[in-house]
Amino acid sequence: MTQPRIWLPTVAGVGTAVSLGVYGRLHTPAGAADVPAFIRLQDTKVWLATAVLALAVIQLLAALSLYGKLPTARWIPALHRWTGRLALLLSLPVAVHCLYALGFRSDDLRVLAHSLLGCLFYGAFVTKMLLLSRPGPTRPWTLPLIGGLTLTAVTGLWLTSALWFFTTIGPGWSF
Ligand code: HEM
Repeated sequence: MTQPRIWLPTVAGVGTAVSLGVYGRLHTPAGAADVPAFIRLQDTKVWLATAVLALAVIQLLAALSLYGKLPTARWIPALHRWTGRLALLLSLPVAVHCLYALGFRSDDLRVLAHSLLGCLFYGAFVTKMLLLSRPGPTRPWTLPLIGGLTLTAVTGLWLTSALWFFTTIGPGWSF
């Protein structure tokens, strides 16, 4: 029964990523109400995205500890679960705004990479959650693989949005 254990989560993850991309592409972006309000909203989004990246780094350290690569403690599994939940929660309002107001765009390489990574992030997340609920012989390599993919997507999302914002427009504190 190894195949369904991997394939069902993979198909669900790919389906999620493709559905988000198709929605972002087909739906007419709602846009932003006015420029000052949009800039304040962008500030909030970049700080939320930065918090998501920070939580993802804690997730990585906790995972390394769970796999015996770093010292461990009894509270590490709970730390891994709760930082993951919080990261997902904080990412949702940002991604909803991206998808609903801006859509899936390909104006240039950065924006295209950002849109693709946003879809990849939620697809990888769905696959990871489904793999977690299906213990099996492939788990020792599938979980680190999909965890690494999720972290890569979060890092790429931050580089193509928040870092770009900080280095071109500059950080603000308006939320
Ligand atoms: C779900 C798929 C996603 C799509 C299709 C998408 C699309 C976009 C687009 C087109 C932009 C405008 C880029 C520009 O002109 O500079 C943008 C900006 C941004 N995105 Fe996303 N995004 C997605 C997910 C995410 C996620 C998950 C995060 C962070 C957790 C994120 C964080 C940001 C930030 C911080 C900005 C800059 C602020 C802004 O321009 O509003 N996005 N996104």
